[in-house]
Amino acid sequence: MRIIYCDNVFDNEIIEPDYEEEKKSAINAGFDFSLISFEELTDGNITTALRFVKEPESREFAIYRGWMLTPTQYQNLYSGLLKKNIELINSPEEYKHCHYLPDSYEKIETKTPKSNWTTELDNDSILKLAEEFGDNPIIVKDFVKSEKHNWEEACFIPNASNSNKVKSVVDKFIELRGDSLNEGLVFRQFQELEYLTEHSKSRMPLTKEFRIFFANKKIVKVFDYWDEGKYGETNIELDDFIEIAQKIESNFFTMDVAKKKDGEWIIMELGDGQVAGLPDNANRNEFYNKLKENTL
Ligand SMILES: Nc1ncnc2c1ncn2[C@@H]1O[C@H](COP(=O)(O)OP(=O)(O)O)[C@@H](O)[C@H]1O
Ligand SMILES: [Mg+2]
Repeated sequence: MRIIYCDNVFDNEIIEPDYEEEKKSAINAGFDFSLISFEELTDGNITTALRFVKEPESREFAIYRGWMLTPTQYQNLYSGLLKKNIELINSPEEYKHCHYLPDSYEKIETKTPKSNWTTELDNDSILKLAEEFGDNPIIVKDFVKSEKHNWEEACFIPNASNSNKVKSVVDKFIELRGDSLNEGLVFRQFQELEYLTEHSKSRMPLTKEFRIFFANKKIVKVFDYWDEGKYGETNIELDDFIEIAQKIESNFFTMDVAKKKDGEWIIMELGDGQVAGLPDNANRNEFYNKLKENTL
């Protein structure tokens, strides 16, 4: 099994510095690795992107660990590697399933805030979408990401029936996402979560959230999501989440979970495990050792 990392933009033969520690842990755990060029991949030059990837004699399985890719970019990576006899852990469909919230919403619906979405970005469509939440507070994101660090201006809408506020937050959100906007808009009912602390830079309210990695439907590792604040001893009620994980159409994904003020545990979002970051203080050796066990 091989891990595919992105190279350093200035030197194609060394790894992107943010993944250096991960690479060391991967080697320790017994993985091989290859480097690809993220810039060439996202520019559509797949052959150049993969030029330093050695072709194995027989089919080899691999996991990408790098920056987020659009489903089209992932498709290019997947088929480029397959031509070199390397098969990524998730097919392009499996990647998209956890990458786009609307794709897997049905699987997590019972455990995640009520959500709706649109790819039409005109005023009428947006206000109609917000109307479904009545007077409740909501948050806005696209099919993949929010602007959580611009919480007041571009993420949180205190009352979904206040159309001026809906419009101003959505406008700011769309402006900030710019060319990176993924597919369309998603509104989600806001839930009061157990408070942790305020983000030291963006002042966004941080709440008790955890990131669970699943490989082949088994837990690899549960991380505190934020690097700040005191988590204390929290017993996550994992049983329901493990049960839901069995239905998720992906071999490697993350499930971010949070604790509501009323004590209930909910799913915040899913993500493809290949493009999900590890918290800064995560024990990378433990992660890769366990990943190796789960993917044997
Ligand atoms: N429905 C919600 N209720 C309460 N807090 C939320 C809700 N949705 C998002 N948040 C807060 O905003 C953060 C970012 O939302 P998330 O959906 O994870 O987007 P991103 O992909 O940008 O991380 C979450 O980690 C959580 O703290
Ligand atoms: Mg998130």
